[in-house]
Amino acid sequence: MRKTIVAGNWKMNASKDFVDTLVDGILSGMSGVSSEVILCAPFPYLSQVETLIGGTNLMLGAQNLSAKPKGAFTGEVSADMIKDFGVGHVIVGHSERRSLYGESNDVVAEKTKAAIDAGLTAILCVGESLEEREADKTEAVVAEQLNAVISLVGAGAFDGIVIAYEPVWAIGTGLTASPEQAQSVHAFIRNLLANSNDKVAQKIQIIYGGSMSAENAADLISCPDIDGGLIGGAALKADDFLQICKAG
Ligand code: PGA
Repeated sequence: MRKTIVAGNWKMNASKDFVDTLVDGILSGMSGVSSEVILCAPFPYLSQVETLIGGTNLMLGAQNLSAKPKGAFTGEVSADMIKDFGVGHVIVGHSERRSLYGESNDVVAEKTKAAIDAGLTAILCVGESLEEREADKTEAVVAEQLNAVISLVGAGAFDGIVIAYEPVWAIGTGLTASPEQAQSVHAFIRNLLANSNDKVAQKIQIIYGGSMSAENAADLISCPDIDGGLIGGAALKADDFLQICKAG
């Protein structure tokens, strides 16, 4: 039985006051939540969130990491640095990193490896653009994204990661994949992994992201291969986020 994960991806939205209020709001509504809940904060706020959630069952995540372990890489942040602030999960290969910052499948694979090597749980994001979906290339694109990582780290290493299926056309647009659309890609991902390692495929948590909301979360998460959500916009409002956490 796979546990539901709900991860909030705050993206580049935060201030010290905002973080205090948001985390307070989330903490005050956590009773009755059985999902694993992860807050993926921007780097400068990791320390603040680490303190705020200390002693609770909320978990801390980061939104990116360097593929390199240390050294002369101005502006980069390593796996060990985020671990120093109590981070256990890190988003890798978000479509905004891929499309706006040129992260190729190979770079994403290297970052996933850096996370795994450091003992962090990578939340590996995959997903197709609208153009690719309309050209019937969804499965091919997702397979290529996953195979780049599998060929670097091996399917066995997926034991320690989470996959987030995030159709690019659904991110921040209010357009959500229907439960049928999402379930079909999630099943495809699980089958792809099963071809290399069935045990890992059955165990791995595959979460959905892309305009998941308090209204649609339960329908999505109740699909057999959807094990939770990666939440952007709705993670910035404690009440909405908590409703999604309770949908699992
Ligand atoms: P959204 O973002 O929920 O605002 O669509 C999801 C994500 O980008 O992870």
